[in-house]
Amino acid sequence: MAAARKPYGAHRSVAGWFDVPLVDVDISIIGSDLPEDVDVFLREADSRVGRFVQDSPVRAAGFVPSDFETVYYALRAIAEANIASGSSFCEWGSGFGVVASLAAMLGFQASGIEIEEGLVDAAQRLSGDFGLPVDFIQGSFVPSGAEPFAEQALADTTAEFFWLVTDADDAYEELGLEPDDFDVIFAYPWPGEEGLIAGLFERYAAQGALLLMYNQFNSVSLQRKVAKWSGDF
Ligand SMILES: C[S@@+](CC[C@H](N)C(=O)[O-])C[C@H]1O[C@@H](n2cnc3c(N)ncnc32)[C@H](O)[C@@H]1O
Repeated sequence: MAAARKPYGAHRSVAGWFDVPLVDVDISIIGSDLPEDVDVFLREADSRVGRFVQDSPVRAAGFVPSDFETVYYALRAIAEANIASGSSFCEWGSGFGVVASLAAMLGFQASGIEIEEGLVDAAQRLSGDFGLPVDFIQGSFVPSGAEPFAEQALADTTAEFFWLVTDADDAYEELGLEPDDFDVIFAYPWPGEEGLIAGLFERYAAQGALLLMYNQFNSVSLQRKVAKWSGDF
C-alpha cells in the first residue's frame, strides 16, 4: 500500500491528516529605538537572567531566553498595527517572564505559564520590581487531554532531545482563563517542537488569535488561526 502523502498545508495528528487553519501574517517588524523604560527593564532582565543561568545550570536546562529586543519589536508592531482581536496575551513557557512583562508594558493584559517553579518565582520578582501587572502561574500550557497528541507530535519529529514537558497538570484553572481566551500567544519552542506548539494552538486557541513564535536564529513568525479546528482528537 502506498504511504499517505502529506497534503500541502497539513499537519499530522494522532487521528491522521487535517487542514491547518493557520495563515502567515505579514507585518513589518522594524526597530532600533527602544523606549527608555523598556531599555532599563531589559538591562535588568538580562543581568538577572545571566545570574540565574550561571547559578543553576542544571535546573535551568530547559530554559533558553529569546532575544528580548527582537520579540519586543514584534509585539510593538502587532500593537501598533492593531491586528490582534483583543488585548489578552499569554506566554507559553514563560521562563523569566520577560516577554509577558514586555507585553504588559505595551498595554496587553499579560499572563505567563511556566513549568519550573524557580523561573516562576524569578518572573514574579522581576515584573513586581517594575510594577508590571502580569499573572505568572506554575504549571503546563499543554491543556489536559492534549497529552496523547503532544507525545505523538514529539515522537513524529527527528529531534534528538525534547524539552517540552507533556505530562504535567495544566495551569488554566488556576489562571482562570482557557487557551481560547487569549488573543495573542507567544512561544519559543526548542528546535523540533514548533509543530507541536502550532498544533496545540490550532486545536485550542480562539479563532482569530495570533501565534507569535521565536526561533533560535533570532527571527519570529506570526500566524493567525483563521478557521475552527476540524480534526477529531
Ligand atoms: C526555550 S525556553 C523560552 C523561555 C521564554 N519564553 C523566553 O522567550 O525567554 C522554554 C520554556 O518553556 C518551559 N516549558 C517547557 N515545557 C513546558 C510546559 N509544558 N508548560 C510550561 N512551561 C514549559 C521551560 O521550562 C522553559 O522555561
